[in-house]
Amino acid sequence: MTDSITTHQATDDARNAEIKIYVNGELAPRDQAKISVYDSGFMLGDGIWEGLRLYNGTWAFLNEHMDRLFEAALALDLNIGMDRAGVIKALEATRHANGMTDNTHARLMITRGPKTRPFQHPALSQSGPTMVIICEHSTPSIPRPIRLATVPHMRGLPMTQDPKLNSHSKLNCILACIAAEKAGADEALMLDVNGFVNTTNACNFFIVRKGAVWTSTGDYCMNGITRQKVIDLCRANGIPVYERNFSLVDTYGADEAFLTGTFGAQTPVASLDGRSIGSGKLGPVTTRLRALYKDLIAQETT
Ligand SMILES: Cc1ncc(COP(=O)(O)O)c(C=O)c1O
Repeated sequence: MTDSITTHQATDDARNAEIKIYVNGELAPRDQAKISVYDSGFMLGDGIWEGLRLYNGTWAFLNEHMDRLFEAALALDLNIGMDRAGVIKALEATRHANGMTDNTHARLMITRGPKTRPFQHPALSQSGPTMVIICEHSTPSIPRPIRLATVPHMRGLPMTQDPKLNSHSKLNCILACIAAEKAGADEALMLDVNGFVNTTNACNFFIVRKGAVWTSTGDYCMNGITRQKVIDLCRANGIPVYERNFSLVDTYGADEAFLTGTFGAQTPVASLDGRSIGSGKLGPVTTRLRALYKDLIAQETT
């Protein structure tokens, strides 16, 4: 496929070659920002992360991101080594060091830290966590609606690796994405263990049928902050919205489909498994939700 794109595509920005990156309290130029090869995140994917966006000098939905981060840390029994105020201070220091006020995306990563020996046991991480914050100048530029392919990789049950955890290890999602690309699509649509449509490998998934907005029950997907905001916006604006089980049949026959995530907000879907979804273009309900979300961001960040 010659025109393959990703759901996290941004305009090229030469300033990103020169950014300063936060590594454990220090701000290092990008080419000097380093962590140990013994780090649990590198070696085992043992860590957690958040993706945040800065609008008008304010991190959107910061409380929600901090709630999710600290909840994930509890689940992993990972001591972040600082409180919420400390994490926010580090985020702010990073964006200020880069002179960023808008159109900025942060990836905030915390791992269990360097291990004394190259093995799995978490107790081998003995010198405290590693915290890295990458802030990039970032203006999303997704040139056309996204093509999806359904893949055999599933969103698993909570007792394996809970799909709600924003863990460093994303191998299940990466394998799904590779399978979708091989099938000529941009991103993968993943089903849950019962065969219902669940989520994509990197975003939450919605369909629109007869003016109503449907998304999965939420049981097997990332508890996306944008997902919740879209549900809340529907409820506040008289748009029928359902968190429910639905199948590929319902999806192929939908009038519109879109993805949600902090980076792309609401990204229209053109097709699934080679079938056009509705007109294959940005539809009226998605357009309306994009406008409502934009207004919400403006309210939250003034
Ligand atoms: C698998 C997955 N789904 C959905 C999302 C979107 O979540 P949010 O809206 O909080 O960015 C993410 C982002 O972290 C993700 O990794």
